[in-house]
Amino acid sequence: MGRVAGLAGVSVRTLHHYDTIGLVRPSARTPAGYRAYSTGDVERLREVLAYRRLGFGLREVAELVGDPSADAVAHLRRLRGLLLERRERADAMVAAIDRELGTRAKGLSVTPEEQLEMLGARLYDEIGSAYPATRRTEPRIAAQIWDALGDARTVLNVGAGTGSYEPADREVTAVEPSAVMRAQRPVGSAPCVAAAAESLPFQDRSFDVAMAVSTVHHWGDPVAGLREMRRVARRVVVLTFDTDEPGWPDRFWLTRDYLPEFVDVLAPFPSLAGMADAIGARAEPVPVLWDCADGLFEAYWRRPGAYLVDHVRRAMSVWTRVGPEAEQRAVRSLRDDLESGRWAERNGDLTGLDAADLGLRLLVA
Ligand SMILES: C[S@@+](CC[C@H](N)C(=O)[O-])C[C@H]1O[C@@H](n2cnc3c(N)ncnc32)[C@H](O)[C@@H]1O
Repeated sequence: MGRVAGLAGVSVRTLHHYDTIGLVRPSARTPAGYRAYSTGDVERLREVLAYRRLGFGLREVAELVGDPSADAVAHLRRLRGLLLERRERADAMVAAIDRELGTRAKGLSVTPEEQLEMLGARLYDEIGSAYPATRRTEPRIAAQIWDALGDARTVLNVGAGTGSYEPADREVTAVEPSAVMRAQRPVGSAPCVAAAAESLPFQDRSFDVAMAVSTVHHWGDPVAGLREMRRVARRVVVLTFDTDEPGWPDRFWLTRDYLPEFVDVLAPFPSLAGMADAIGARAEPVPVLWDCADGLFEAYWRRPGAYLVDHVRRAMSVWTRVGPEAEQRAVRSLRDDLESGRWAERNGDLTGLDAADLGLRLLVA
């Protein structure tokens, strides 16, 4: 035990604890009859320690290494993926810090508002490269948005990302603070300005309409951003999410049964009524069709197996926001319930529906 502890860089006490809780049990015996670690035990210990260093709790680790369908190669692949993700995140944070240091070195001040504004952009600098795999225009949502644009000729698209909902038949200007997202805009798409919603670099009433799709919940100050849209455009169209309805987390089985942490993610988000008031908007529901082409968080309500697929989840910011522990737990219990038929028992009625109201709302002002 002492030798393994030395090699692994942990204390003998830790190994005793892992033994007591059944996480890593030395299964071999020395010639003198003392318990010793077999090659398999050492392999398991390495996996346990790697998951621990990635921030997983002991219970989570026990479930991960206890998964009978994952062999050593599967664990190495999973660990490699998690580490690469962490490295990308760290690189993006270093780049953001360098930018801020550069600004400060020039004697320019960075206000708390600017720091908060950049939070959403930083998130997308971290996760944005996964976005195009599944995020694209859903034609029926696009039709509803474009209808709300009315006869507007000039359109400002705020938090534009890769431009999924930009109408092709109008003059569009995009605003997008994340460099990673700007770089992924298709060749020939509308000109894009690097800025945040909370301080739009345009004169009052520069556009016929300002639109924002699936972005307001990322802004440091959503109401300030909406007021800015109102200032620079005659009309405003915003696709957002309703958290006013009592019991809203129960609307969607994913948040109700597997990811209650989603409630904490949206806790600081303003009420729909508050956002509507800020710009004088009315709200209309945006149903999510069963075969929604845009891989947003609610898109797969009738295709639950999609949430088990890594690249599908990576294009949904919610999973990064709740963190790896909650994500792994949710995925594991959903997988179990799909296999055991429990998901189908609870949600069988969904198979008969073509569209669901999962709280998406279009604010039109
Ligand atoms: C889920 S994506 C939506 C992109 C696009 N509107 C779409 O529907 O595909 C959210 C976008 O909001 C951007 N964003 C984050 N914080 C922002 C802010 N303060 N102002 C404007 N956009 C912001 C992100 O960089 C990201 O590109």
